[in-house]
Amino acid sequence: MSRHLLCMLLLSVVASMIVLGRASSRENNTAENSAAQNDAAAGTIDKPEPGEAAMDGPKQIIKNAEMMKLLFDPYYVDLRKAIGEKPAGRAGWRRAYIAIFRICEVTNLLYSRKDKQYMLTQEWRQMTTQSRDAAESVGEAVLKLDYPQVRERYELLIQSCNACHQKFEPTEATEVKVW
Ligand code: HEC
Repeated sequence: MSRHLLCMLLLSVVASMIVLGRASSRENNTAENSAAQNDAAAGTIDKPEPGEAAMDGPKQIIKNAEMMKLLFDPYYVDLRKAIGEKPAGRAGWRRAYIAIFRICEVTNLLYSRKDKQYMLTQEWRQMTTQSRDAAESVGEAVLKLDYPQVRERYELLIQSCNACHQKFEPTEATEVKVW
């Protein structure tokens, strides 16, 4: 066999390998594409993986004890100062308003604490609901500028703080003073 012929033979083998390789990779691609289309048609493509769904909901960043220190305690101190005596004028009521509605909204964060096992119980959720509702009713009294009602409802709110502390951490959690 001449060198020329051998070269031609080799070249054609290489060329057909390339063509075959391309064809099979195109086949793979179309197989992937149609699988993707099937998934999309079945509505599975946008479905989050298990665990991924949590990204779109409340997520705990800090531990409960930290949250009590950073949010609950300072807001409670603000509130106690603001309503210790009848708020004076617009500025006084505004201070009370800010403090109580901060408390209202942070009570919602209690539902998403998970750093201790008992925070996943129904009782924890119930105590959270009690505290949140107590806070909201203080808020309503503040909006009405009804000082006697604010005081009365505030005392119930503090009882709800202490009820949860007593229930879950009787030795750890400090007793929240009413005044
Ligand atoms: C649903 C339960 C629950 C409610 C309601 C609750 N707490 Fe707490 N709190 C805890 C727990 C549990 C601790 C102990 C810390 C821990 O181990 O997470 C704590 C601790 C605290 C501490 C001590 C923080 C520290 O470690 O220095 C303060 C202050 C506090 N809470 C304030 C409040 C106030 C004020 C309210 C009401 C407006 C309130 N808490 C309502 C569960 C609750």
